[in-house]
Amino acid sequence: MYLNNEEEKMYQGEYGDTVRKSMEIIVALGDIYGAEKLVDITSAQISGVSYKTIGDAGLEYLEDLANDKEVKAKKTTAKVPSTLNPAGTDLDKWEKLGFPPLFAKKQNDIVDAYGSLGISETCTCTPYLVGNVPRFKDHVAWSESSAVAYVNSVIGARTNREGGPGALAAAICGKTAMYGYHLDENRKANLLVEVEEEISDIGYGALGYMIGNEVGDGIPYFILKNKSTNTELKSLGAALASSGAVALYHIENETPEFNLAGKEDLIKNNNKVTITNNDIKETSEKLTNSSKNEADLVCLGCPHASLEEIKDIANIVENKKIKNELWVCTSINVKAAADRMGYTQIIESAGGHIVCDTCMVVAPIEDMGYEIIGVNSAKAANYVPSMCGLEVIFDKPENLIKFD
Ligand code: F3S
Repeated sequence: MYLNNEEEKMYQGEYGDTVRKSMEIIVALGDIYGAEKLVDITSAQISGVSYKTIGDAGLEYLEDLANDKEVKAKKTTAKVPSTLNPAGTDLDKWEKLGFPPLFAKKQNDIVDAYGSLGISETCTCTPYLVGNVPRFKDHVAWSESSAVAYVNSVIGARTNREGGPGALAAAICGKTAMYGYHLDENRKANLLVEVEEEISDIGYGALGYMIGNEVGDGIPYFILKNKSTNTELKSLGAALASSGAVALYHIENETPEFNLAGKEDLIKNNNKVTITNNDIKETSEKLTNSSKNEADLVCLGCPHASLEEIKDIANIVENKKIKNELWVCTSINVKAAADRMGYTQIIESAGGHIVCDTCMVVAPIEDMGYEIIGVNSAKAANYVPSMCGLEVIFDKPENLIKFD
């Protein structure tokens, strides 16, 4: 793969070990995937943050990078705006929420190590809601699968589904290898999905779950009967990326590159499926694996909740007493806005919590006494049984939250 003079110096270790190791990762990935050169990026989003997923080995790796003398002298730092994926705890309120203390300590050490490398200690899978917002056609290196689907599809920036080390390496070097979704020719759709009736709310998650299973790592092209909200698009992408490995989708007349997606070829080759309301209903029902109809923890905000979603939840619980435990997962930035709007106070007065930095999948909820988790996210419904070993109920928030 071609490296320019500056890239060659980085690769040879002229800027210290952390830059050298990062360039080695980027070049190795580029060689594996047949990249001809590197490309400058404008932003990174880094997974591999929860202690539950990376453990002591991950913490040691990060502390090793952070202890490089060039890093300590602040000569090596992230070259582009970079944020983190959700961690395993609410970094500030872990004690109040009942997170195990040793886990919380290790979690804070992990986030501190990222901070030493110049990565913003903002832990969220919706970085596009909190200022990490690339522009159309920007090249970026993002790794959380729902965020990847959103940034490729809704914003029209370009990223592969980076692994945590690859995204961190890209943040440190300000570059990634030019292959996959960075190239226009790899952004064409390979399945046309016509949805026969209007859909809304959790229907988007069910649709994504169904089509993710169908296309795997392909690119679906949707024709919908109605216009989608940003919340619905983040649910759709999250579900597509969890049952399949979808990194990009197009929606006719909605997403910015739909007219470059090759719809005519899909029609010509009859690569088409039709989805009915009955399909959506059946899939929604299948996403519940519990025989009980009441969750002991209702966990909303997958992907991390926007201010609008928090407002809707505040409206549901206002002046009531919630019977089950309620977590609304989001970033510290969105919580700050919810605090100012009074939504946090409404939710807390009803007995719920706004939980920052983490979520139902990467937090150790299986060690915190919960058994049945209520979610309105198809991605969470897919992962909670496998990653936490718990039962799940998939439904709308107004049906999941029970009152005294
Ligand atoms: Fe985000 Fe966790 Fe869902 S990382 S997309 S809230 S599983």
